[in-house]
Amino acid sequence: MKIAFSKPQTPKKGAVVVFADQNKNAPRLLACALAFDKTLGGAIKRAMGASRFKANAGQTLVVLAPGKGSISRVIVVGLGKGSEVKDLVAEQAGGVATAQLGASGDERAAVLVEVPKGCKLSIAELAAHVGVGARLRSYRFDKYRTTEKKENKPALDRLDVQVPATAMAASGRLFRRLDAVAGGVFSTRNLVSEPANVIYPETLAREARKLSRLGVKVEVLDEKKMKKLGFGALLGVGMGSARPPRLVVMQWNGASAKGKKAAPVAFVGKGVTFDTGGISIKPSKGMEDMKWDMAGSGVVIGLMQALAARKAKVNAVGIVGLVENMPSGRAQRPGDIVKSYSGQTIEVLNTDAEGRLVLADALWYCQKRFKPQFMVDLATLTGAIIMALGAHHAGLFSNNDKLSDQLLDAGKAMDEKLWRMPLGKAYDRQIDSKAADVQNISSGGGAGSITAAQFLQRFVNDVPWAHLDIAGVSWSGKDAPTVPGGGTGFGVRLLDRLVADHYEGS
Ligand code: BES
Ligand code: MN
Ligand code: ZN
Repeated sequence: MKIAFSKPQTPKKGAVVVFADQNKNAPRLLACALAFDKTLGGAIKRAMGASRFKANAGQTLVVLAPGKGSISRVIVVGLGKGSEVKDLVAEQAGGVATAQLGASGDERAAVLVEVPKGCKLSIAELAAHVGVGARLRSYRFDKYRTTEKKENKPALDRLDVQVPATAMAASGRLFRRLDAVAGGVFSTRNLVSEPANVIYPETLAREARKLSRLGVKVEVLDEKKMKKLGFGALLGVGMGSARPPRLVVMQWNGASAKGKKAAPVAFVGKGVTFDTGGISIKPSKGMEDMKWDMAGSGVVIGLMQALAARKAKVNAVGIVGLVENMPSGRAQRPGDIVKSYSGQTIEVLNTDAEGRLVLADALWYCQKRFKPQFMVDLATLTGAIIMALGAHHAGLFSNNDKLSDQLLDAGKAMDEKLWRMPLGKAYDRQIDSKAADVQNISSGGGAGSITAAQFLQRFVNDVPWAHLDIAGVSWSGKDAPTVPGGGTGFGVRLLDRLVADHYEGS
């Protein structure tokens, strides 16, 4: 879909998107919408009056265009109170409009934007955010649907966001920056949506390699290299699979001349391309979901793409540990003891607690080699975080209050919300092992997401570190304004925002 910013003109064909805000709780068309409505003989106002449309943020009303013209329909999108219209409301408005346009089968639409009374955004900001909201909602993963009828698919291929000539350049510039990040989100959604017969460690590493086109330095460590380094924890997980594991290291060195040598920020992702549970095998019902057990690595790859595509002024490292967790005659057994890259020995009491084993070596490698300013890891680590927080927050665990607060704020700003969970000595004791230095599950005491995080912390020295448990937020069963059902890409926009707000030199 092409999203363009063009100068205002009365639309003559296709669909038209207009906005309404709330004035003393009553819906009110914005001035440019009102002017357009005159050309339709007041049909929009009449339809609004005859409906329950209240112009709540995200609410829509579809009005079929009257008369003989070539306008198909008008989508009225509610913004709520003008004073509450921020970036996210604008994005949601663009998103819900796009969903309506997709359902109605329109090929072209004009969007009439205007800053509502009381709103502090500039027209360029408003337009750019409406545009990126439209982009984010337009995502579909339909490459394997070869018999879906054309008339059942969205047909929208052009959106013209109308802005005054004086704001066109600024709208385009801001949109391109936001769209670069949306491109990263799309890559993550694609990777997460691909089935495990297509995306496995080697092919996921191949996808990551494609980032070199954007100037990202990409290295891939194979099994032999990892054996030599002593990645016993990660390699143990991969033993049962016919697909050999990989570790990918991505580097974006974008810091300005002044900060060229600055320590990088680092992101580490769990990339279990399929999690059967291994010998501690999972029940078959719902096991197909475990194709997206590589979401953490998908986010790291999408984030590195976003940072490179918008030429972020930062040095950033992305590391993903890629393995398939399968049962077989060569698989790791419950009770096995492995030696991690850190030197600590691990008693593997449950082969289904595999993500933490992969991350243990990836985290240690990251801090040892790069000495980063901070490390943030992302992992679909525990079912328990879904019990605790559902789909509306990811779990945040951290040894650093400043980094935590920065992450919490970035999450609120991008509507990818986090909730901080505790860490502590008493939880840490739950994973002391009788046979080795640490065991990979606790032998009772509940708090499964926390003990998982405690396990990770044993492989982090005193570098500021945060762990995001994204098991509940990486896949969604239903559509949201800017996130269609399926792989969400949760984390890309959040971490891009973290970097933009705090870690980019001027
Ligand atoms: N990948 C799963 C966690 C998960 C569950 C992600 C549901 C997304 C949806 C993880 O590897 C796992 O199996 N965790 C176990 C840990 C347990 C064995 C201590 C779990 O949560 O049951
Ligand atoms: Mn598992
Ligand atoms: Zn897993």
